[in-house]
Amino acid sequence: MRIYECADYRAMSRQAANIISAQVILKPDCVLGLATGSTPIGTYNQLVEWCEKKDLSFSKIRSVNLDEYRGLGGDHDQSYRWFMNHYLFSRVDIDVSKTNVPNGLAEDPDAECARYDALIDSLGGIDLQLLGLGRNGHIGFNEPADKFTLGTHVVNLTENTIDANKRFFTSEADVPRQALTMGVKHIMQAKRVLVVVSGIEKADAVVKTLSGKIDPQVPASILQIHPDVIIVADRAALSKLP
Ligand code: F6R
Repeated sequence: MRIYECADYRAMSRQAANIISAQVILKPDCVLGLATGSTPIGTYNQLVEWCEKKDLSFSKIRSVNLDEYRGLGGDHDQSYRWFMNHYLFSRVDIDVSKTNVPNGLAEDPDAECARYDALIDSLGGIDLQLLGLGRNGHIGFNEPADKFTLGTHVVNLTENTIDANKRFFTSEADVPRQALTMGVKHIMQAKRVLVVVSGIEKADAVVKTLSGKIDPQVPASILQIHPDVIIVADRAALSKLP
């Protein structure tokens, strides 16, 4: 595991964008696993800037996103499909038909989860998976639990996650209570995992992820046994590491 300490959010975003950019340059048709949330926005902005300058092209990229809220369609401005279109896909030369996000409106969510796992397999797995880190140590929406769940699955969001995400909704009551999330299997099978972390409110999760035991109550702790993990974090996020 490599840990890059960056001075601040801006430096973290640039560093993460450099790593994604290197991946895209080395393998232009690679499969990128993408994340939503506040943390990767600066990274996406940097990638957009390089694409606008024609220093980078996403034209052959295939992508799979980690998760989607259950009950939200892609035209809902808090859905993760909407987020990806808004912050990245509509701003770079990617073929949107080659981008994938679980369908939050699927009538049969379990069938949708199975479809999503088969889709990732049909793409040959993920070359580079970008992850944010939840305050409770979640990755994707793999929430603290008694066991790790391998496949894409429907998850009940914890109070901690609902509280963290309510800032994006008009009221807490509007925050969906369930999501579809990639499980730890495809995350752990990704050839490389890039975790972006920013801010003091993530510092405890960073300590538990990196220096605690591997524990499904801290889902990100499983990354300790992935052979190629890069953590790109700002100083505040790393400030509680022993
Ligand atoms: C998003 C996702 C989540 C976030 C995490 C951190 O697709 O899967 O695990 O990465 O909740 O979110 P932010 O970056 O908003 O702190």
